[in-house]
This record gives sequence, structure tokens and C-alpha cells, in this order.
Amino acid sequence: MFAVTASRFDAADPLSGLTLGERPDPAPPEGWTTVTVKAAALNHHDLWSLQGVGLREEQLPMVLGCDAAGVDEDGNEVIVHAVIGDPGAGFGDETLDPKRTLLSEKHDGTLAEKVAVPRRNLVPKPAELSFEEAACLPTAWLTAYRMLFTKADVAPGGTVLVQGAGGGVATAAIALGAAAGLRVYATSRSQDKRDRALELGAHAALESGARLPERVDAVIETVGEATWSHSLKSLRPGGRVVVVGSTSGQAPSAELQRMFFLQLSVIGSTMGTRDELDRLARFLVTTGVRPQIDRVLPLREAREGFAAMREGDLFGKIVFTP
Ligand SMILES: NC(=O)c1ccc[n+]([C@@H]2O[C@H](COP(=O)([O-])OP(=O)(O)OC[C@H]3O[C@@H](n4cnc5c(N)ncnc54)[C@H](OP(=O)(O)O)[C@@H]3O)[C@@H](O)[C@H]2O)c1
Repeated sequence: MFAVTASRFDAADPLSGLTLGERPDPAPPEGWTTVTVKAAALNHHDLWSLQGVGLREEQLPMVLGCDAAGVDEDGNEVIVHAVIGDPGAGFGDETLDPKRTLLSEKHDGTLAEKVAVPRRNLVPKPAELSFEEAACLPTAWLTAYRMLFTKADVAPGGTVLVQGAGGGVATAAIALGAAAGLRVYATSRSQDKRDRALELGAHAALESGARLPERVDAVIETVGEATWSHSLKSLRPGGRVVVVGSTSGQAPSAELQRMFFLQLSVIGSTMGTRDELDRLARFLVTTGVRPQIDRVLPLREAREGFAAMREGDLFGKIVFTP
């Protein structure tokens, strides 16, 4: 089968380790099944993998990709849940299983014509979603869903700030938050992305670091060091910052005085459960919200998508079709 793999690591030039070509078909172990991929989405995770984050040299070559939608062996249209873990070992939540792994970390990923996954990782794809739309859900959109509705715990009528409006998680958080009746503020360094954040449903879009018209209940933080201080300053007393990423660096000042004096909470989050993915898919059907797709490329042209993500030259998800 045709697949996109990481064949070596290069922290400075990650695309140099990207290989496109033939790989053996998957051989699913007991309890696993093979999905024929119809669409697969790119995540920052794939760039981290090429930089050697979360993978060891001896695991190479590794097929990249966490996200896919396709057809299972029985002909059902499915979304692939990327988290491989045992809910029983994780207090009922597979993302908390200490042995949890994501597709492409230990097992070959989704940027291929076929992918092997545990049977329990298949979620029915609603007919209302295209394969390209459904492929955006398992990582960025699921992560945003859990951040907003499980971790930030903001009620309709509440307020959130989404930092770095152009990213996959950020565009998802803006659209999901607005659809759920939240007042969403977004920041971006680019005027074009700020304009597009408004189209997605943001109440207001501001330059990175700008003072908000009001303090918010929660911040959706994926950028890290570059926006951290602004995130803390933007919270109301007792507010929460939910963090899943550190694209710009992972060691900002903790600003402890601000944190305890204003009784702020910092909450880490990663991906989401199979159940949350199922509910996310239903939420999109109910609300009519659809993932913001920056571009759809043939899998054979995946390098172009990786380059765009590396440059930050995107708004929403990049999707590949085998
Ligand atoms: N823990 C999890 O489960 C999980 C899941 C998904 C993603 N993540 C992580 O979350 C992060 C975001 O991932 P993603 O795929 O959504 O998108 P991404 O492509 O990494 O996000 C790009 C956005 O980050 C902002 N940004 C980047 N560098 C910046 C800087 N120096 N200053 C200010 N803003 C900056 C940009 O915003 P503007 O250009 O609009 O300013 C850009 O739109 C990544 O680090 C990823 O690994 C974690």
C-alpha cells in the first residue's frame, strides 16, 4: 500500500525525514481490524514525530497520522479513534491509561491506504459528514471538544478565549464554542486569520496579546510560551486555562502569585475518549457545524501539506485522500 512515513528524525528540518512510497499492508492482531482509509488529516503531532518527539530511532520507519475516516471490513463507514488505551486501566477513561498510545506512536498511523486499529476504536461516521470532514475529528476537533465541554466546563452564556486562531484545535474550539452558545474571543498574529475567526463564529478577534473587552471564564491554550502570560491575565478570578500544546515553547513563567491570588486553575488535557468522539460527531450533525478545512490534497502530495503546516501557512485542517 502507499503510505507516508517518518524514516528519520531531524529537529531542524523535519521534512527531510518524510518518505512517500510503498509499505506492507497492515497485519491486524487479534481484536483489531483493517480500515480502508478514504480521508486522513494532518496534525502538528506528525511534525513532532518527524522531529523525534514521542518516537525512538528503532521504531522507524513509522507510518504517520492519527486521523482517518474510512470503511471497515464489513463495509461500514467509520471514524477512527486514535487513542489506543484501556478505559479499565484509566479510571474509566482510556486517555488516562498509563500505557495509552496514539496511532503512529507505537502502531502504524493513518496516512496510508489502510490502517489497522482495535475494533473498539471504530466510531460510526454519520452520513451527514463527508469522509474529509469526518477525518478532521479524531485529534484536533476531539481535543477542542474535550477542552471546552469536559475540562473548561463552561456553560452556555459563558466566555472563552481561544489563542492562535489559525490552528486546527483553535478553529475547532471557535466553531464548537460559538455553536454551544459561548461568547468566544480569539487572538491571532494575522489580520486575515482574525477576519476568518469572525466568520467561524468568534464574537471578537484581537491581535495576539491585546487586552480583551472582558475577562473570560476559560482560555483554550495551544500556543504555549508566546501566549501563556496573556492567557493568565485574561482570566476572571477563579477562571481556568486548559492547555494541550506548546507550539511556541513549553517553559513560560508560571506566574504563581497571579495564580494563587486570583485562584486560577491550570488544567492539562489530551485528546478525548471514544465516547466523546461519538458525541462530537453527533454534535456536528445536530448543529450543522463542520470542520474548517484549509485544503484537500492527494496523499501522494502530502509533502505540500506538511510544508504548509511547518510554515504556519494554514487556516484549519489539511486533509489527504489516498
Ligand atoms: N494534547 C493533545 O491532545 C493535542 C491535540 C492536538 C494538538 N495538540 C498540540 O496543540 C498545538 C496546536 O496544534 P494544531 O494542530 O491545532 O495547530 P498548529 O498548526 O500547531 O497551530 C498553529 C497556530 O499556533 C499559533 N502560533 C504558533 N506559533 C506561535 C507563536 N510563536 N506566537 C503566537 N502564536 C503562535 C498560530 O496562531 P496565529 O498564526 O493565528 O497567531 C497558529 O495558527 C500543537 O503544539 C499540538 O501538538 C495537542
